[in-house]
Amino acid sequence: MTTVPLPTSAAGDWTPDSWRSRPAVQQPEWPDAAALADSLGEIRAMPPLVFAGEARSLREQLEAAGEGRAFLLVAGDCAESFEAFSADAIRDKLKVILQMSVVLTYGSGVPTIKVGRMAGQFSKPRSSPVEVRDGVELPSFRGDTVNDFAFEAAARRPDPRRLVRAYHQSAATLNLVRAFTKGGFADLTRVHAWNQEFVAATPEGQRYETLAGEIERALRFMEACGIDLHAELQMHQVDFWVAHEALLLEYEEALTRRDSLSGDWYDCSAHMLWIGERTRQLDGAHVEFLAGVHNPVGVKLGAEVGPDDVVGLCQALNPTREPGRLVLFTRMGADRVGEALPPLIRAVQAANHPVVWACDPMHANTFSHASGYKTRRFDDIMRELHGFFAVCEAADVRPGGVHVELTGENVTECLGGSDSVLDHHLEERYETMCDPRLNAFQSLDLAFEVAALLQR
Ligand code: PEP
Ligand code: CO
Repeated sequence: MTTVPLPTSAAGDWTPDSWRSRPAVQQPEWPDAAALADSLGEIRAMPPLVFAGEARSLREQLEAAGEGRAFLLVAGDCAESFEAFSADAIRDKLKVILQMSVVLTYGSGVPTIKVGRMAGQFSKPRSSPVEVRDGVELPSFRGDTVNDFAFEAAARRPDPRRLVRAYHQSAATLNLVRAFTKGGFADLTRVHAWNQEFVAATPEGQRYETLAGEIERALRFMEACGIDLHAELQMHQVDFWVAHEALLLEYEEALTRRDSLSGDWYDCSAHMLWIGERTRQLDGAHVEFLAGVHNPVGVKLGAEVGPDDVVGLCQALNPTREPGRLVLFTRMGADRVGEALPPLIRAVQAANHPVVWACDPMHANTFSHASGYKTRRFDDIMRELHGFFAVCEAADVRPGGVHVELTGENVTECLGGSDSVLDHHLEERYETMCDPRLNAFQSLDLAFEVAALLQR
C-alpha cells in the first residue's frame, strides 16, 4: 500500500500555496527574495490569461477524447523564447498545427482538439542544476522565465523580472492566437493558405495540397446543395487552447484565481497544465498544487514509472474520477513502450479511473549526435507512436492524442522524415533553445501517419 500523504485537496484544505509544505524539485534559487516577492506581487495583480469557463470547455472536449470521439493534438516549442518572439513565428506555428489537425480530422472523422505548447511554455526542468563547459561551472539554463541562455555568470543568474516578462509575452501570444483563430485566419475555406511555400515543395506539402483540394471540393458541393457555409460559425472559427508544464510553482500560484461562478480554483496561466516526468512525485509540491486546481491536467510518464505510482497519481489528481480531467502522456521510447505501457493501462483500468491516454513520442527518443547536437530520429518517433497505438488496441483503450515538439519554421533539428533531414544537415538550421523540434514538413508527415493509424 502507498503511504504517501494525499494532497490536501482530499481533505478540503487545499490552498494555492499549500504546495509550499511539500518538497518542490526543479525550482530556481532566486538570489534576491525581495525582488522575487515584488515580481510575484505584480503578477498577482494582473488579469488572468484564461477563464475558468474555457478550461471547463476543454475538459468536456477531453472527455470525448477519452471515449474516442475526439483526438488531442498538443504541439509547440520545447521552450518558448523571449528572443524568437514574433508574430510571424506564432502564425507559422499555428499554420502547421491547423494543417496537422485538418489531416487528422479528415483521416479519423473525429474533431481534433488543438492545444498549443504556447503562451507560457518557458520553464525547463534540467537533469543537472549546473552546466560545465571547459572547466567553467555555471547554473544551468532553466528557461527564459528564469535566466538567460548565454553561458556567462551574469546571464545565468536567476532574475525574477523575467517572470513578469513571461506573463506579458504570454498575454500577447494568446491575444494573437485568439485573433487568428477567431478572426478568419483559421477559416476552413483558407485551408490552402496554411501550406507554406517551403512546405508545398515537399512530398508532404503536395500530399496536403491534394487533401486541401478534396476539402474545397466538398465545401463547394455543400454550397451547391444550398448549405450556407458563411452562416456556419464552425467554418470560420476554431477553438485553440494553450498549455504548458506547470514547473515554476510560484508563477502558477500567482495566477491561480477562484472562479466567481463555481467557487472553484483555476490556474489561469493556461487552459491546461501538465506535470513533467521529473516532478511527478506523489508526495511532491507539483502534484499537491495541481490536485487543487480545476483545469484539465496532464502527467508525463516515463518507462520507469510503476503501476502503483500511476494509480496513485490518478487518485491524487482526480479522486472524483471526472472524465476529461486527467491526460496521461506516455513518453517511454520506441524500444520500451511495448513492454512498459500495458501494465500501466491494466492498473488504471482495474482502478476504474477515466483517463485520456496520449503519446509524447519525443522525449524518450532524444540522443546526442556525434556532431554534438541533441537530436531525435523521425523513425524512432514514428516507431513509438506505432507501439503506443498497438498497445492501446490490444488493451482496448482509445488512443486519445499525441504531444509533439514542433515549429512552423524550416529547421534541421530532428533527423529523417520523407523529405529527409540528414546527419550533415543538423548544423544548418539548428535553432532550438532546448529540445530538437520537428520542422513543418516533418510535422505534416507525422500527422499523415497518425491519421492512418487512427483510420485502422
Ligand atoms: C518537455 O515536455 O519539454 C519535457 C521536459 O518533458 P518530460 O517531462 O516528459 O521530460
Ligand atoms: Co522538450
